[in-house]
Amino acid sequence: MQIIHTASELRKVLTNQAKIGQKSSQKIGFVPTMGNLHAGHIYLVDLAKQHASFVVVSIFVNPLQFSPTEDLSAYPRTLEADYEKLRTADCDIVFVPSVTEVYPDFDGSNLNQSMMIDPPPIANVLCGATRLKHFAGVATVVMKLFNLVFYNTAQPNIAVFGKKDFQQLFIIKEMVRQFNLPINIIAGETVREANGLALSSRNGYLNDIQRASANQLNKALQSIVVNIKAGHSNFEQLEQAASNSLIQQGWEVDYISIRASATLQTATALDNDLVVLGAAKIINKTGGKTRLIDNIEFCAKSLKRL
Ligand code: PAJ
Repeated sequence: MQIIHTASELRKVLTNQAKIGQKSSQKIGFVPTMGNLHAGHIYLVDLAKQHASFVVVSIFVNPLQFSPTEDLSAYPRTLEADYEKLRTADCDIVFVPSVTEVYPDFDGSNLNQSMMIDPPPIANVLCGATRLKHFAGVATVVMKLFNLVFYNTAQPNIAVFGKKDFQQLFIIKEMVRQFNLPINIIAGETVREANGLALSSRNGYLNDIQRASANQLNKALQSIVVNIKAGHSNFEQLEQAASNSLIQQGWEVDYISIRASATLQTATALDNDLVVLGAAKIINKTGGKTRLIDNIEFCAKSLKRL
């Protein structure tokens, strides 16, 4: 596994790889991450390996997607452990650029000079309603990384994203479609702990007891799925009930929302392919709050038709 820090070095290595690729029609599989890798990330690397013969993983904590009140400086950075996991997963290249490598005009704090992707309005609901400009920051860095990793390849390549960040996945797919990028996006299922808690780098902010009860978010979403499958069609009531049960258990709820999975628009009782998404804050080990997200995609097969 090669560890690469600069765009020029990456370009050199990938150019050589493309030469080899012409002979053996190798495809590049790319998995962008912010590091602090867990089994969910490694599952995406395994998926990339199934669809491509050469796998690039990036580790970059992207300042553009954190608002000033968020955890940019506290975000866990565990590079050596990450490299070890990626070696075991048989990753070919790990790209670990500095902030100035990705944003050459970065002056230490001000990113306003950066040219940004302006995502469609779906980026301003759910997580985007409270995390202003978050998805503009995500789309911009992913576009930059795509341009660096895929710059010299003829055949369509693949990039792997997790369904854990369902809205992010949706926006990246839209970006690829609307900008005609020759990239196939592959979606990986959410990897969970045995109690249902979705793996997340932010789970590290919780102590063992808090972590054991952090699956309450998943349970609240599960109860909505069960109710809809049983024929319950008052979605607002279900969202409210799930939200109330979390509040009673000490959570601060950001949103619980039942949406059509293909469009992410608010679901109606006529929709069959649904996703229920939630974001809520739980008390963490410093006494502050950690925001967790989760979602479940499902079919409302037994939904009563209007
Ligand atoms: P990060 O949170 O590190 O996640 C990297 C990738 O891992 C994302 O596609 C995410 O959806 C996926 N992932 C996270 N937890 C997962 C789980 N439990 N199961 C399966 N996949 C999981 O998402 C980002 O970084 C950033 O926004 C990024 C796309 C890298 C842009 O900066």
